[in-house]
Formats: sequence, structure tokens, C-alpha cells
Amino acid sequence: MIDYRHLRVALLGAGAVGSQVAALLLQHGDELADRAGASLQLAGIAVRDVDAPRDTDLPQELFTTDAESLILGADIVIELIGGIEPARTYLLQAINSGADVVTANKALLATHGPEIFDAADQVGAQVYYEAAAAGAIPIIRPLRDSLAGDRVQRIMGIVNGTTNYILDRMDTEGAAFGDVLAQAQALGYAESDPTADVEGYDAAQKAAILASLAFHTAVPLEAVHREGITQVTAQMVEDARRAGYVIKLLAVCERLTGHGSPTGEAISVRVYPALVPRSHPLASVHGANNAVFVEAEAAGSLMFYGAGAGGVQTASAVLGDVVSAARRHIAGGVGVGESTRANLPVLEIGHAVTQYQITLEVDDRPGVLATIATTLSEGRVSIATVEQTVIADDGETGARARLVIGTHKAREQDLSDTVERLAVSDVAPHVVSVLRVEGD
Ligand code: NDP
Ligand code: HSE
Repeated sequence: MIDYRHLRVALLGAGAVGSQVAALLLQHGDELADRAGASLQLAGIAVRDVDAPRDTDLPQELFTTDAESLILGADIVIELIGGIEPARTYLLQAINSGADVVTANKALLATHGPEIFDAADQVGAQVYYEAAAAGAIPIIRPLRDSLAGDRVQRIMGIVNGTTNYILDRMDTEGAAFGDVLAQAQALGYAESDPTADVEGYDAAQKAAILASLAFHTAVPLEAVHREGITQVTAQMVEDARRAGYVIKLLAVCERLTGHGSPTGEAISVRVYPALVPRSHPLASVHGANNAVFVEAEAAGSLMFYGAGAGGVQTASAVLGDVVSAARRHIAGGVGVGESTRANLPVLEIGHAVTQYQITLEVDDRPGVLATIATTLSEGRVSIATVEQTVIADDGETGARARLVIGTHKAREQDLSDTVERLAVSDVAPHVVSVLRVEGD
């Protein structure tokens, strides 16, 4: 038996993720010690209510409501409380008391990342956050370390398990949004306030974290364009299916050229529901799984796939970070800070260039299609496909038709201006939906 040095580990939070981290840490302590080169002693678990029921069976004497005392004297602090406060204060206290910190808190990193990373830099500590984007999937280390010698051009990913679970069940079973959301909450995928998931805030936080790493630029959350899935109806899901697409909430982070920065480069970071061709690998990402495509200049296309949410799955990524933190602690030396030197401008959504599918309901009479085609052409939007279905004449409105127009790549600003002009044109279509098409 090797007599390893003991490292004291403080765990803050014992909810869906924290309770699994504690259980695995206790269960696999010997193996983890062999991998880390140090014995990891769980010094205590800070929670709000020590008597609350837990997902796993944990020794009651480990629980405390005194997080601050636990932090003092810890070598590694794992923050799994979530939210901004008190998580931010506890992380700063941990860093300033000489601990390395592990967190899965994307909300905190996306809003206060620079403050936390700066604090760690000041004292030579390191912040580990593999679980903060895409749950169990190793994506932070690949971006931060494995691809540090390459130039990432684009990331396109499904990074929110709850919304993927909802959209997938709507697609495969025709399920109603509300029913599936309740199930996602019961399964522990959803954030405590599910608005964070369904309105795209959680995905936007992850997009900010991934884009910051990929483009060596601190991307503020406010610079991420965000749309959620609450406007996605069963009809839209059905229409997409008939057209050979599936609707997925995507995070798209890309490098753009010719935009006036000193290097002529800029980035676009956006989250929205988009049509993905059924033949695309992202279309077959089911349930709460996540998948992230990375396109890099030298490496080409890489795909990372797996569980994006769930207590025990996320605990895997957290424990990987704990082992890394322990190894670093034993080896000594200063932590590796965040690389933000490129400092590229983050452009507004209007500069993004992609394909679109516009669904309109119009009067079925001569000249309507010609007017629509002219308006699109004047707006620099090129039509790729048009499909018309006649809607039954109800005797009051006259003959109506549904038009589904697929476009070639267009600038977002041109597209949205054109759709606005169409809506007030003589043919006054009812705009049923405008969806981006990604991965075609
Ligand atoms: P939960 O809401 O399930 O658990 C939160 C825990 O924090 C609870 O044990 C709670 O205590 C404790 N807590 C809350 N406030 C305080 C406080 N003021 N002082 C001390 N303890 C407190 O969260 P999750 O486990 O789901 O998530 C934890 C983190 O992991 C979040 O940042 C989340 O975004 C992230 N994450 C979650 C994933 C998931 O699938 N759930 C996946 C990836 C990341 P008590 O039990 O007493 O109420
Ligand atoms: N609520 C998040 C999700 C948890 O559904 O993906 C993982 O970050």
C-alpha cells in the first residue's frame, strides 16, 4: 500500500451532481488515489439543509451548512451549488486560500469567468471546469489543450440536454412540449429554473465558454445571440420532419474574416433552434445527449458525443477535474491561465451568414409568387427551393396557399429586413416561421 500524501477535498453542494461526486469519491477512493498520486479525503459536504433527502447514501457526519469553514484548509474545492451567489464568493475564497477549484457552474463562468480566472492567476491556482459545457463529454480539455496548436474555425453543437430531450420526444412521439419538460425535470436534466434551458440561456452560457476557449477571446454572455425553443410548435416539428429535417437547438461559434479587426478576423456566437438535415450526424443525437462538432484548420472535423446532462454522468467530468487538480497540486508550480490574447471582436447576429427556410401563408392568386420572388431578390436573398401547398378554401378568405421557401446562404440582416418588407408588402403573407438551416 503506497503512503500517499493526503489532499483535503471540500464539496459544496450535494444535489443531482454533487451527491454522485461524493458517492464516487468515497467508493473509488483507492483507485483515484493511484491515478492522482495523492489520497483524496472528502473533508465535508456543504449544503443548505443537512437533513434533506439525497440521491445517494452518504455518511451524515460529512454534511455541514458551514461552507466557509470547510473551504478554509481545503486543497481542492468542488463547487456544485450552481447559480451566481454564494457560488462566486465561495470560489473566490477557495482560490484566495490557496486551493485549486473545480466547478460545473456555466452560469457563473459565463458571467464572472474573467474575475475568477484573474483571481486564480494572481495566486497561481487553477480553475477546472470540464463539466461546465456538455456534461460528461470531454470538450474543454480538447479545446484548451489538444487543439492549442491549431486554429479552430467553427463549433456547431447540441449543448443542452433538456431541450434536446424535449425536441427529440416531440419529433419521435409527437409529444407535447409541457409534458416532456416535466419529465426532463424529473430525470434531473433541467436546471432548477427550467427557463434557463428552454429559453436557451444555458446553451448560450456554454457557447460563451466554448467560444472563449476556441478563439482565445473572452466572450461575454451578452455578446451571444440567444433564442430558445418555446416558440417551436408541434406543427413546426411535423413540417420539418416532412421536409427531411429535424429541429435542434444549436450553439454555433464561428470565425469570420474580413471584418475590420487588426487581423481582419471576428467571431459570431449564437444559439437558436435550427433545421438540421436528417442525414446529418447531429440529427441522430437523441434524448439528453449532446454532440459538439469542431472544425479546425489542421485537424479538420472532429466530433464529440455523449451524455450532456445527468447527475452521475456529469460527476464523471467533475472527478476527472479533481484528479487533474490533485496531480497539479502534487507537482506544484503555477496553474495554466486562460488564453484570451486574440481578443477578437464578437459580431452581432446581423453579420451571420447561413441558409433559411421561410414558411408563409399567402392568397393563392396571380402575381403573389412573383412579388415574393422580387422582394427576396431586392433584399439580396437568393431562393434555392420553393414548395407550394394549396390550403382548402374556407369560403371566407378565398383560396390560400402555404409556401415553403428555402434560401441559399444569406446575411442574417438582409434576411430579416427582407422578411419585414414582405410582411408589409401588397401580398401581405402570414409569416408562419423563419428557421435557419445548419449543416446542409
Ligand atoms: P442541484 O440544484 O441539484 O443541487 C444544488 C446543491 O447545492 C444542493 O445540494 C443544495 O443544497 C446546495 N446549495 C444550494 N445553495 C446553497 C448554499 N447557499 N450553500 C450551500 N449549499 C447550497 O444542482 P445540480 O447538482 O443539478 O447542479 C450543480 C451544478 O452543476 C450547477 O452549476 C449546474 O449547472 C451544473 N451541471 C448540472 C448538470 C445536471 O445534469 N444536473 C449537468 C452539468 C452541469 P440542499 O441539497 O441542502 O438544498
Ligand atoms: N440543464 C443542463 C442541460 C444540464 O439540460 O443540458 C447540463 O448542463
